[in-house]
Amino acid sequence: MTLELIESYDLARNFLDQTEDMADGLLVDVRNLSVRYSSGYALRDVSARFKKGRITALVGPSGCGKTSFLNCLNRMTDLIPGCEVSGRISIGGESVTDPSTDLQRLRRRVGMIFQRPNPFPLSIRQNIQLALREHGTTEQEQLETITQRVLTDVGLWGEVSGRLDGSARDLSGGQAQRLCLARALALEPELLLMDEPCSALDPIASEKVEQHIASLGEHYTVLIVTHNLGQAKRIADETIVFWVSEGAGRIVEQGRTEQIFDSPTEAVTADYVTGRAG
Ligand SMILES: Nc1ncnc2c1ncn2[C@@H]1O[C@H](COP(=O)(O)OP(=O)(O)OP(=O)(O)O)[C@@H](O)[C@H]1O
Ligand SMILES: [Mg+2]
Repeated sequence: MTLELIESYDLARNFLDQTEDMADGLLVDVRNLSVRYSSGYALRDVSARFKKGRITALVGPSGCGKTSFLNCLNRMTDLIPGCEVSGRISIGGESVTDPSTDLQRLRRRVGMIFQRPNPFPLSIRQNIQLALREHGTTEQEQLETITQRVLTDVGLWGEVSGRLDGSARDLSGGQAQRLCLARALALEPELLLMDEPCSALDPIASEKVEQHIASLGEHYTVLIVTHNLGQAKRIADETIVFWVSEGAGRIVEQGRTEQIFDSPTEAVTADYVTGRAG
């Protein structure tokens, strides 16, 4: 075969693979991902695939690369000096890792919730509407409708509808985290990344936020990092276990949550889920 023929064969093969994958409900495809900081590899040669409409828990001991993994999916790694990423990631068939990727569009498609709630120092209403405006929704009636819908979705409407112009800084930690969730939902992301979203909250607020995350499963695809294995069991359809081996984070096992907890394939997973390791 000539080089040209081989190249066009590869292109056609890739196209067919992608079409098959999308028909199969695949949303996120991570291949041979490595992340290196000046201190060394955080992740080495990690591959994983995630289907649409599922909640996946990312678990594993501290330092095994869970946050680094999430940060690659919306190119937050670009903001970390000295961080080098290699491998390929696509979301909904569109490349994330390609240098020409439009980052503003990517971050609309991929929302993120952090450990500490980070509402903007603005009013509750502005927290939701600012991002919508930035992304092109300018009609006030539409902005108000979306605001009410997303605040209702996270169980906040009843609590804040009378003070939408009050500062978001006056909310409790749990309310602030639900506002951040509502802000992310307003943009209708294809994928929602959450990095220990309940760990800075008291148990009651944590339970409330968890319930709202669990209810997202039908409509959204969620990747949630958690150290709370009970939480992973309660809300995740799938679980993926990270571990450090030979000096870098790796994926040990990915599967249905019941399988990971009740009949893990790998000894490391068994030790981790029973609390004997990690
Ligand atoms: N900005 C950075 N610069 C240098 N090294 C980093 C940086 N961020 C993370 N690392 C290192 O990369 C490795 C993986 O870190 P990462 O934060 O991804 O792990 P994690 O699984 O999220 O841990 P935790 O459960 O404690 O949040 C660790 O060894 C960490 O020290
Ligand atoms: Mg982390």
